[in-house]
Amino acid sequence: MRTQVGIVGAGPAGLMLSHLLHLEGIESVVLEDRSREYVENRVRAGVLEHGTVKLLEETGVGDRLAREALVHSGLELRFDGEGHRIDLSGLTGGKTITIYGQQEVVKDLIAARLRDGGDIRFEVSDVRLDGLTTDAPRIAYTHEGRTQELECDVIAGCDGYHGVCRDAIPAGVLTGFDRTYPFGWLGILAEAPPSSEELIYTYHDRGFALCSLRSPRLSRLYLQCRPDEDIDEWPDERIWEELRTRTATHDGFVLNEGPVIEKLVAALRSYVVEPMQYGRLLLAGDAAHIVPATVAKGLNLAVADVRVLAAALVQFFGSGKTDLLERYSETCLERVWRVQHFSWWMTTMLHRFDPDDRYQQRLQISQLRYVTSSTAAATTLAENYVGLPL
Ligand code: FAD
Ligand code: DHB
Repeated sequence: MRTQVGIVGAGPAGLMLSHLLHLEGIESVVLEDRSREYVENRVRAGVLEHGTVKLLEETGVGDRLAREALVHSGLELRFDGEGHRIDLSGLTGGKTITIYGQQEVVKDLIAARLRDGGDIRFEVSDVRLDGLTTDAPRIAYTHEGRTQELECDVIAGCDGYHGVCRDAIPAGVLTGFDRTYPFGWLGILAEAPPSSEELIYTYHDRGFALCSLRSPRLSRLYLQCRPDEDIDEWPDERIWEELRTRTATHDGFVLNEGPVIEKLVAALRSYVVEPMQYGRLLLAGDAAHIVPATVAKGLNLAVADVRVLAAALVQFFGSGKTDLLERYSETCLERVWRVQHFSWWMTTMLHRFDPDDRYQQRLQISQLRYVTSSTAAATTLAENYVGLPL
């Protein structure tokens, strides 16, 4: 079988790429190792940048988002028992963030691809790449018990951090950069109305806490925890108690509680590979870089990558020119490193590192006071949070 672009992975990166290519008349086949039901229900990120939302709307996959998503124009930084609002919109010329679950974006993109006759193969296994330095790279895989081969002009590795595409690049080609934080997040989804209309990022002696939401009836809450935290040691009541303690304010903040319908522990780490390409294989999204969850950028970066990649492929298939494709990695890495820095900065400002390091705690409080009192400092946070222009 032949296609122009073989895409490994039906996450936000792979699906959005397939959709953008289709709009430009370029064929693709998406290979995904999980089932459709699994990818449509995998709860992950929830905050969409201004530019991500615009792209979804402009390319015809924003209808349900326009009806169901919640638009936010600010967020709160809370420390020393007091909240301070950052006016994201006012500081960025009217830009906003949008709360809409990643699995909803995935559902909308799958529906659009299937409506447009797209080819997505779920539940494939044994994906192997070959011929990456030729002009006809191949993907071998097993589907419904049969081994198949897909010959392509280009392969997009959109298979996430644990995928196989990055490892198909010979040793010595890539340089990896990473940072592992000495903590993780314990997250819950709860059937409780959000306690605040906007997100609350809390710095507390006992560790970071975040109040987010998914809808007027669903809260999404996170607590800083050990990176290897055993979730069985966290019955619901212990989670609520800890959340109440960390988010308490002098003026009596009330945390809404309700049945917990999902729980997870996630490590916080950063990773980047350079370059994001090898021969005819281009990596996009988590396959090439991950950021700590603190500023909810993973999905947005994945979308930014494939936007650059789609434009490069339009040029390549339209005119045979390769300059945009050759510069793909360089173009993406500029944004990737900006986001790496922003997520490191916010993670460092808001989390408890060494409980005995009182010097660092003084620095964190000083930084929080500055960000919440200086327009210049708040603008730095705001423009990075809503997302720099694509
Ligand atoms: P993915 O969404 O990982 O998609 C990759 C796809 O490839 C998956 O569908 C996978 O099943 C498939 N795949 C993997 N290996 C193969 C293979 N060998 N063959 C075929 N298919 C394969 N970001 C935030 O901003 N906020 C959050 O709260 C947040 N929470 C997260 C929680 C978890 C547990 C994880 C893992 C990530 C979280 N992220 C969060 C990050 C964010 O969800 C990712 O950045 C985003 O999913 C990146 O999209 P992607 O398409 O690059 O990769
Ligand atoms: C959410 C996740 C994040 O990592 C974040 O910084 C903000 C919100 C969320 O899941 O809603």
